[in-house]
Amino acid sequence: MLPPWTDADPLLAAAADRFGTPAYVYLTDRITARAEQLNADFGRWFKLSYAVKCNPNVALLSWLKGSVPYLDVSSIGEVRRAISAGWSASDLSFTGPAKRRAELAEAVSLGVGDVVLESLEEALALDELAGAAGVKAHVLVRLSPDRVPKGFGDHMAGRPSPFGIDVEVAADVLPRIAALPNLHLAGLHIYSGTQSLKPEAIVENWRIFIDQFRKFCSLIDLCPERLVFGSGLGIPHHSGDQMLDTSAISAAIGTDLEALKAEPRFASTELVLELGRYLVGEAGVFLTSVLRVKSSRGSKIILCDAGMNGHLAATGQFGMVLRRNYLMHRVGGGETTEKVDVHGPLCTSIDRLASGVELPALSPGDIIAVYPSGAYGPTASPQSFISHPVMRELLIEGDQMTDISPP
Ligand SMILES: Cc1ncc(COP(=O)(O)O)c(C=O)c1O
Repeated sequence: MLPPWTDADPLLAAAADRFGTPAYVYLTDRITARAEQLNADFGRWFKLSYAVKCNPNVALLSWLKGSVPYLDVSSIGEVRRAISAGWSASDLSFTGPAKRRAELAEAVSLGVGDVVLESLEEALALDELAGAAGVKAHVLVRLSPDRVPKGFGDHMAGRPSPFGIDVEVAADVLPRIAALPNLHLAGLHIYSGTQSLKPEAIVENWRIFIDQFRKFCSLIDLCPERLVFGSGLGIPHHSGDQMLDTSAISAAIGTDLEALKAEPRFASTELVLELGRYLVGEAGVFLTSVLRVKSSRGSKIILCDAGMNGHLAATGQFGMVLRRNYLMHRVGGGETTEKVDVHGPLCTSIDRLASGVELPALSPGDIIAVYPSGAYGPTASPQSFISHPVMRELLIEGDQMTDISPP
């Protein structure tokens, strides 16, 4: 279990004082704790792959080299970021439902580890490009199951979906991909749901993956080198959200994974757990300073130096069905609390970080910490809207603080 963010207040206050706000702060100790927990619960079966989309800061990617063996990228821009952070192209998998031809060509020339194919058309294009380059491109095929259990914040399958190859047509499509002369089919990939806080939903989903992997590997007689499980592990964002019990998942899924590994076809298969938010989400906090305090028609309104422009997800505009306040506190605490609305500086009423949240009395200069903010933060927010300053990004390792803002 990670310590509460209020424990980090002295560090957060020092970071805001030294570098200013608005800022994202990432604490590496918290990522290390998460990686250790994941390895304790799942390391017997899985290697971890970090999904760059959730936080692609180059310095963070570089730091992560000591914590995870693989990265999953979803654009050639992310491939370049990973390489500039010191990663080898061969340790990357490249997902994405609409990769451009130029992206596939660059992935081939850089030697990206596995291109994750999401359609037959993509397979045909990659086969042609690999043939022209005189190489065999290593690929995984992403399958889209026909069912995702209840209990995920976002479903990428189980209904019409842009992602992967529907299992209903995979028996026809897979043999055609496997027969392409310039592709080496290394395995299969499924990512069908995310942000689940329910161990039973995750276990049920991984069992669906196992069934599909068994079925389709047998169909094309493939002894896969790799099978990628899209984790779906979620993190609490709101007051009252329960913490996900990963040890309960591990206890429930263990026999299924052992049985799979015991089959000759999968004896030397590497199982990979692909995840983003669960590794880094709760290691990041967003700091915004109070600029004005206003009373309006019976409500107290706190106006801050960043809101939606810096943290779209916290304003409920990033895949949330019902807007609920993210967790937040006043850095340094305070005795009595009052109900306030917290807004950013944009000229739109949707720039609202919280409504009716209980916080200690706030005045200009005070700092509000908003979390979890390590995933889907600065690069998932409309930072250039209304041309306010871009968010700083700071890495804290022990008592060392580094400004890792993009140039
Ligand atoms: C293919 C794929 N991999 C990984 C992720 C990362 O998911 P999360 O950050 O929820 O773990 C996603 C999320 O959408 C995804 O689509």
